[in-house]
Amino acid sequence: MSGKFYITTPIYYANSAPHIGHAYSSVVADSLARYHRLLGEDVFFLSGTDEHGAKVNRSAEEKGEEVRVFVDKNSKRFEELNRVLQISNDDFIRTTDQKKHWLGVYKIWEKIKEAGDIYMGTYKGFYCLGCESFITDKDLKNGKCAYHDVEPEVIEEENYFFRLSKYSDTLQKIIKEDQFKITPVARKNETLSFIENGLEDISFSRPTKDIKWGIPVPGNPEHTIYVWSDALTNYISALGYGRDEKLFNKFWPADVHVIAKDILRFHTVIWPAMLLSAGLPLPKEFLVHGFINVDGQKMSKTIGNVIDPFKVTEDYGADALRYFFLRELSLFEDGDYTEEKFKSAYNANLANGLGNYVSRIFKMAFSYFDGKIKKPTDILLSSVPFREKERESFSVPYVFEHVFWPEYEKNMDEIKISAAADGVWGIISDLDTYIQNYEPFKLIKTDQEKTAAVLWSLFAGLADISWMIYPFMPETAEKIIKALGVEKREKKWGDFSLKSIETLFKRKE
Ligand code: MSP
Repeated sequence: MSGKFYITTPIYYANSAPHIGHAYSSVVADSLARYHRLLGEDVFFLSGTDEHGAKVNRSAEEKGEEVRVFVDKNSKRFEELNRVLQISNDDFIRTTDQKKHWLGVYKIWEKIKEAGDIYMGTYKGFYCLGCESFITDKDLKNGKCAYHDVEPEVIEEENYFFRLSKYSDTLQKIIKEDQFKITPVARKNETLSFIENGLEDISFSRPTKDIKWGIPVPGNPEHTIYVWSDALTNYISALGYGRDEKLFNKFWPADVHVIAKDILRFHTVIWPAMLLSAGLPLPKEFLVHGFINVDGQKMSKTIGNVIDPFKVTEDYGADALRYFFLRELSLFEDGDYTEEKFKSAYNANLANGLGNYVSRIFKMAFSYFDGKIKKPTDILLSSVPFREKERESFSVPYVFEHVFWPEYEKNMDEIKISAAADGVWGIISDLDTYIQNYEPFKLIKTDQEKTAAVLWSLFAGLADISWMIYPFMPETAEKIIKALGVEKREKKWGDFSLKSIETLFKRKE
């Protein structure tokens, strides 16, 4: 059944240029968006930038730049990164976009207020700028924010509060019953224990005299809407909530919100509570991935180990970075990026592995058959079975259709992206074995027909692979698809009339 699929990335703070951590979330989300398009679903994929709040404002000041110019510049870098990495987002939301975003924020504020969940109060306590969050003693380690290792600000101010505590029991029940999924389960448990420790009402505004850079509270411009309340609403404002709700009605609720562990609570506690209060349906799943460290350390400007995704892409190509993210890192754990690991995975699996396989079989096809590989008869095909020993009479396409695609789809449906990719590289290595078994480069001297059948099988295998890697490495997939002339994903492949193909991945020394 082909339905709709709405997937989002976090919206990234427009206070600096993107690093590979941001690229990671976008690539993960993109692979799922592309996969669901492959299934024929109606996909809406959203990304964007989070541009308000004290943190962004302060960064602009530190740079001595006018904040609007500053966020324009940074937001553009995120959009550029999306193009460079072939992120197929359908829209890019900016929280400074008054026409698009602000109306949605106003509307949800009003709804929450109508529900009686917004009231005026005094907040006295800590604020961590890094988190853009009011924090408590529990969040401190030696007097510093445990996450950012920075002393929080102490503030006392009049704020509008959101009655978060009211939703404690409802949220617990909903999460326990998996009414929305939090993947992996460890993050579900983390959310539950956070709620069990007691939810307090939270500040939902800051005084405008201190925080000017944001959206004014409707009806009371002396207060600015809290940046997280503003930011989370992007997921519905982009769909037209509060202005033209056609897309909203079609795509909401979100099927998957991709986030990382650092913004778990905001997403799995505050956001659902806001939606409950406003009487809106809840998202179906939160996909919470781990963090990328660099050489075993947290990426930070102070350490100076921030990896620039533009640079990696320039050196290796977008698909190489995408490949590394999706296959070589484990989605739900913290992963480590090292240049050495990256290069060795690139050489082993892209330059060799896939790249070598493609160049080998194209070379044979052109030198033996001028690039024209006719589909052999069933009899001929069964004379060159794919896995001779295990399955006497199975030819390549038969096996693929019945074994590999279902396994691939099962993995992708369960968001086991690296397992799906492992499957693909498993096929590549099986196909290499197939070449070794039949030695077409020798067979051609004695039996042209049988060689053609072997080659056809190798290309049918590649045709499936090209579509399987499309969500992971779209540029490479498209090159192969074009050279094979298989512009539509078919269940069965016919004759191949090949076009030449360039080297996909040059070996790096
Ligand atoms: N603006 C908020 C999110 C609002 S969403 C309504 C924010 N922005 S951020 O720029 O700090 O980006 C946070 C997200 O970027 C993380 O949740 C994660 O998805 C991604 N990553 C940032 N650094 C990362 C790593 N080092 N590793 C992996 N992902 C990381 O928080």
